[in-house]
Amino acid sequence: MTAPTQPSAQHKTFFRWQRASLEHHIHTLMPQWGGLPLTIHSRDLESNASFVNYVRFHRLIDPITGKPMDVVEKSIRKVAFIGSQEARFHRAEGMLQGSVYFRYPPCLGVIETPWESLIFTRYIRGRPPRMQSIGRHLGRGIAEQEERSSAYIEAMPRNQTLLLWSMDFFRPWFLLRPRFNFTRCLPELERLAREDSRFTGLAQRLRAFAPVIRTLASQARRSPRCISHMDYLRKNLFIRKRRLYLIDWSEAKIGRIGFDGGAYLGSLFRRKEMSEFLLAQAQFEKAYREALAPHFDQEDALRNQRYVFLQTALYHCLRPETIKEYQEQNRMPLLLEKYEYLLTLL
Ligand SMILES: Nc1ncnc2c1ncn2[C@@H]1O[C@H](COP(=O)(O)OP(=O)(O)O)[C@@H](O)[C@H]1O
Ligand SMILES: [Mg+2]
Repeated sequence: MTAPTQPSAQHKTFFRWQRASLEHHIHTLMPQWGGLPLTIHSRDLESNASFVNYVRFHRLIDPITGKPMDVVEKSIRKVAFIGSQEARFHRAEGMLQGSVYFRYPPCLGVIETPWESLIFTRYIRGRPPRMQSIGRHLGRGIAEQEERSSAYIEAMPRNQTLLLWSMDFFRPWFLLRPRFNFTRCLPELERLAREDSRFTGLAQRLRAFAPVIRTLASQARRSPRCISHMDYLRKNLFIRKRRLYLIDWSEAKIGRIGFDGGAYLGSLFRRKEMSEFLLAQAQFEKAYREALAPHFDQEDALRNQRYVFLQTALYHCLRPETIKEYQEQNRMPLLLEKYEYLLTLL
């Protein structure tokens, strides 16, 4: 067996240079089990994110008490030996400790090998929420998450600034993703307009968002930093005993206050009818404004929210896949309604 290096006092990250068995990993994370033989039952969980090798459920039987313990193992592939965002997030242990509105499954630890990051967290048995019904809860949760993480980042020792720098939302390796350039999708809309006159002129009108988004981006850069989860999907949230649990930090960045609200509303806008979206948006915004820490400028937060909302909504509503999907489902009037709504935000 390979001896792992000891974790630093700050976090539960272990570095290992050779492949090892699951049992070995578990013993590394649970030294109190004294290397006793383990009973483990495993099954795969559904995952479709890029760079994720697998997500697995393991039921472990505590060899001392005989009680079961359910954990999730997430393996994230490394590119050029560079660790994942999610592993880096877990390294910032204590950042969200004591949160009231969101719960986070406790992290047992992270094992870093040259090829992958293995993240072990407790399994949460809950049910997924209806995304349009949790606007109020998310408003309060996101405000709290931003306040706590912002304070944590401010207080971080200088030797961790590289971590912050590499995870910053404005690094080119994030900004170069297609989702941040909706204008690439406009030629497809022009083609559609040639077949369907209801769409005539829309591409040109929507193009006017490009300079607006550039200005919003440069204003956002100068606003307060915080952790931004950026992936508020139904499958990343669980309700258990009236508590809301948030998982999956694979899209997390060092963002800016307001970004997460934009990410939530952007994904809701993409999936829901307009009336449902507008109702959830009103509920979210009211709760968020009321819960935003007083030392943050509301204008900064709402402008940043608008920035990420526009980026997300424009890209997702203009992608050729989306247009095709609406065509196939005979829902083009709804898509048109969404474009017209976005244009009111210019
Ligand atoms: N701690 C957990 N508790 C319960 N289910 C989990 C947990 N972590 C992951 N899962 C399940 O596994 C799925 C994939 O995990 P996730 O971390 O979201 O990976 P991906 O980045 O592939 O979306 C989740 O949608 C969820 O159903
Ligand atoms: Mg997920």
